[in-house]
Amino acid sequence: MTEITIRPYGSNDEAAVIQLWHDCGLTVTWNDPAKDIERKLTEQPELFLVAQNNDASIIGSIMAGFDGHRGAVNYLAVHPDHRKQGIAEKLMNKVEALLIEAGCPKINVMVRGSNLEANGFYEAIGYEPQDVVVLGKRLIED
Ligand SMILES: CC(C)(COP(=O)(O)OP(=O)(O)OC[C@H]1O[C@@H](n2cnc3c(N)ncnc32)[C@H](O)[C@@H]1OP(=O)(O)O)[C@@H](O)C(=O)NCCC(=O)NCCS
Repeated sequence: MTEITIRPYGSNDEAAVIQLWHDCGLTVTWNDPAKDIERKLTEQPELFLVAQNNDASIIGSIMAGFDGHRGAVNYLAVHPDHRKQGIAEKLMNKVEALLIEAGCPKINVMVRGSNLEANGFYEAIGYEPQDVVVLGKRLIED
């Protein structure tokens, strides 16, 4: 079992975190991950966490936020070689604690219906499917 540390994202982590997102299939053509990181560092950077293993490599990430009404979670990722060891659950537990501290009453998470892994994970840790349609509008092209 890997010994892991959950800590805030640091300025030297960018390349490793982007590589992790690639390895976890979280990068898409319409989102520039470096810009996503840059933006996050301007808003509640303390809610952007990484999981580091005992050889100092980054094997997990989570980017959360609180808008004053609801909390959100993005970029939850655990490297394929380190899954099913409770690392994502630890990342979520830490973020939930930080959001509770900030007074956030509820977290909403968006997961593609086809992402059975993530849906299975969230339901296992107590998240319930919600009967909503997600609408989006791009404001800034990357
Ligand atoms: C989803 C993800 C973060 C889970 O990471 P993980 O570290 O393996 O999850 P954990 O080990 O903390 O899982 C906790 C519990 O969730 C459940 N779970 C985890 N993966 C699951 C899966 N593939 N199917 C069903 N349930 C699952 C299990 O009950 C597990 O407990 P157990 O190990 O006692 O069985 C990981 O699979 C991942 O990075 N996927 C790709 C990126 C992604 O899709 N992120 C979400 C974007 S919305």
